[in-house]
Amino acid sequence: MPIVVVPHPALRKTSKEIKEADFDTAEMKKLLSELSEALASRDDGVGLSAPQIGINKRVFVVAGKVSRKKDEKNIPPDEYFINPIIIKVSKKLSNLEEGCLSIPNTYGMVKRPANVKMEYTDEMGEKKSKSASGLLARIFQHEIDHLDGILFIDKATNIKELKNTDANTEY
Ligand code: CO
Repeated sequence: MPIVVVPHPALRKTSKEIKEADFDTAEMKKLLSELSEALASRDDGVGLSAPQIGINKRVFVVAGKVSRKKDEKNIPPDEYFINPIIIKVSKKLSNLEEGCLSIPNTYGMVKRPANVKMEYTDEMGEKKSKSASGLLARIFQHEIDHLDGILFIDKATNIKELKNTDANTEY
């Protein structure tokens, strides 16, 4: 599954919730592995949402390398977040440069809450919640925006065009 780029219509739709009956089905497993495959095809990618492979369902993947600890030899497995909802945001904001795998060669500064707490369902159908700061908080918010048809260029200031160097972080 290739990663779709603007102006692909899937990027501007509101994605649909995944129903309980769809968990742990062959179709669902296929979707999750397609997400991981598409993300792995890009060295600079840290997260990817289903609409970015043209599928308007509320799920995104975070690359295992994001949670890799400094002394950890192996890269942890990718993590999947289904029907995610942000339930808490910090007052503290952080202003960070973002790029998007669906918007080639474009970067901009986006101000977002520095810390968030998110509820979601994992791929086994279990309800969970997770608090995040730093890069992970950024990924959560960028990917949930994708599920609502929102792109970082809608929120960014100082948008600039740059050749992709793989040194930039894209979501
Ligand atoms: Co993106």
